[in-house]
Amino acid sequence: MPATNSSADRYRITSVQDLLRFLLICFIWLACIVLAIFFIYRSIINYPETYKVPEFNVTGAQLNRLNYTETNHTLSYNLALNITLTNPNKKIFFKLTDTQVIAYHQNKRFGLVTLMDRQTLFDQNPKSSSDFNNAVIQGWKPMMFEEPMLPNADLYNIDVVIAFREKGGGLSGQVICNLKLPLSFNGTAWNCYKTTKCSKVFYYWGS
Ligand SMILES: *[C@@H]1O[C@H](CO)[C@@H](O)[C@H](O)[C@H]1NC(C)=O
Ligand SMILES: *[C@@H]1O[C@H](CO)[C@@H](O)[C@H](O)[C@H]1NC(C)=O
Ligand SMILES: *[C@@H]1O[C@H](CO)[C@@H](O)[C@H](O)[C@H]1NC(C)=O
Ligand SMILES: *[C@@H]1O[C@H](CO)[C@@H](O)[C@H](O)[C@H]1NC(C)=O
Ligand SMILES: *[C@@H]1O[C@H](CO)[C@@H](O)[C@H](O)[C@H]1NC(C)=O
Repeated sequence: MPATNSSADRYRITSVQDLLRFLLICFIWLACIVLAIFFIYRSIINYPETYKVPEFNVTGAQLNRLNYTETNHTLSYNLALNITLTNPNKKIFFKLTDTQVIAYHQNKRFGLVTLMDRQTLFDQNPKSSSDFNNAVIQGWKPMMFEEPMLPNADLYNIDVVIAFREKGGGLSGQVICNLKLPLSFNGTAWNCYKTTKCSKVFYYWGS
């Protein structure tokens, strides 16, 4: 048989060994194709969901009292909040525990309310929201402010930090909501003009 470069000749089946080699090549090709289809299927159909963090929004706020007494440096406060928690994931559940809402004025923490304590386990299903209505931060606290606190300001800057924890060493984090609120007299409700989207401060994994 004359030597030739043509591929047709190279793959021409002339002996049992050639036949076996041909079948082996076919088998390897088939295995590659099956593997490729498997991985494409895995990545399209069964793609693992990227984790989305819990979203908190303040949907209503009412500042019933924010009264600073200069003589004894005491702040007396009452702030009612409506907060929504959203799980934006398609399949992942949130199991929240130990979640607190902490209020600051002029970067000084003055009060807090607990939405879920360490004993509570709160399930938030995928693609769903929960409302926490009338979470009230109230009390009094001796404290000093750097800037004088005007008794009749139009708007007060209140920063609300929501610190949450997932059960079992999952995600922990804090979100901050910057509110500008007027004092509400005689308990008249003041709702945010639009829902206050809270920005993310930090998240970390572990307990
Ligand atoms: C809360 O804010 C997010 C954006 O951070 C928005 O997608 C979502 O619709 C808001 N939820 C409510 C109940 O307003
Ligand atoms: C919170 O929601 C409740 C029920 O929708 C409403 O009656 C109340 O006025 C709201 N409070 C604030 C502070 O927005
Ligand atoms: C603030 O406290 C002072 C002294 O207790 C009181 O006279 C005043 O009415 C209070 N103001 C408001 C807006 O509650
Ligand atoms: C501070 O002074 C105000 C006004 O006199 C009073 O209402 C309040 O009880 C005092 N607070 C404390 C902690 O003594
Ligand atoms: C608050 O209530 C008092 C007494 O009930 C009333 O005189 C006053 O006008 C009310 N203020 C507002 C802003 O509604």
